[in-house]
Amino acid sequence: MKRTFQVNEEGYYGEFGGAYIPEILHSCVENLKKTYLTVLEDEDFLREYDQLLKDYVGRPSPLYFARRLSEQYGCKIYLKREDLNHTGAHKINNTIGQILLAKRMGKTRIIAETGAGQHGVATATVCALMNMQCIVYMGKTDVERQHINVQKMQMLGATVCPVTSGNMTLKDATNEAIRDWCCHPADTYYIIGSTVGPHPYPDMVARLQSVISKEIKKQLAEKEGRDYPDYLIACVGGGSNAAGTIYHYIDDERVKIVLAEAGGKGIDSGLSAATIQLGRMGIIHGSKTLVMQDEDGQIQEPYSISAGLDYPGIGPLHANLAREKRATVFAINDDEALRAAFELTRMEGIIPALESAHALGIFGKMKFKPEDVVVLTVSGRGDKDMETYINAENTISQ
Ligand SMILES: Cc1ncc(COP(=O)(O)O)c(C=O)c1O
Repeated sequence: MKRTFQVNEEGYYGEFGGAYIPEILHSCVENLKKTYLTVLEDEDFLREYDQLLKDYVGRPSPLYFARRLSEQYGCKIYLKREDLNHTGAHKINNTIGQILLAKRMGKTRIIAETGAGQHGVATATVCALMNMQCIVYMGKTDVERQHINVQKMQMLGATVCPVTSGNMTLKDATNEAIRDWCCHPADTYYIIGSTVGPHPYPDMVARLQSVISKEIKKQLAEKEGRDYPDYLIACVGGGSNAAGTIYHYIDDERVKIVLAEAGGKGIDSGLSAATIQLGRMGIIHGSKTLVMQDEDGQIQEPYSISAGLDYPGIGPLHANLAREKRATVFAINDDEALRAAFELTRMEGIIPALESAHALGIFGKMKFKPEDVVVLTVSGRGDKDMETYINAENTISQ
């Protein structure tokens, strides 16, 4: 039998996944589990979702042949331009789907966590669109380093709650959102922004992001005369843009999957967020997966220059891809990501998000054949990262 990397009926990817939640959330999560597939496959839902993706988000996002980058690395490089979506990243594909689901489930109050602020902005956007109350939890460190996104969320009408526990980043924001959910299980819908959390979230978010690989198939068929690439490359925080990029190719072993996680200042430096390289089996935010932890099982504080990759866990789908060697995973350090961001900017005129720059950092680590077709997802644009880029420019040009 052909091996599959999709979720099984119990919500597991190999050993990873499941739903490890407090009793108070049991009926919420069970209800979601019973509802999500019926809604996501419902004709009325699909009509509304597809229409919004087209007219509101601006899909399909282009598949752009990057000529100069291709010459530089000796292969055919296509960029999947999620940076061109409304709100500037792939996150909106997921929030549109989940807000439509929340409405159909009769929920009135929306909560979300955010790291880089892209998911927070995408959630605040769809809440404005649907006239729903919106509360976004964000670590105080991230509130400071991504303050433009905080201002956008506020302008959109959301309440942004800065979180001051832990190292005040994405993990801590997620803890606080789960705490809120436990206090308001009846009226609140929690829009998780990545392929993390208890089942069915990882599968649901992957499905809502799968529009990325659905489009890649069609666009490659038009441009290359075959609907699959040799390589797919994406960065991984929790894993949603990567999951969307690979979704329709996951069991097609002609296509090699290459993922970039955040190496921070180096995987041996103690300042890293390279969960796949450094993590051990554990439970985080309701999911059994690889977790950066000490010998006593205490979660280790992650570090990355990129707020969206600064997470000590990883989606169970990706943990399994790495365990089964279906994906090759590189840890890309801060300086490598910065260099790659400047390279793309100067060679193609595209300023990527810092997260996406980690995916671009892979080009410096791999050898390709001239006929190789490589698709890399530019998950977001760099507007939110301008301060970091400006501060880094001198170091990079030396
Ligand atoms: C532009 C961008 N890319 C990637 C990520 C990482 O998330 P994920 O792994 O879920 O795609 C984020 C998270 O905030 C982001 O803003």
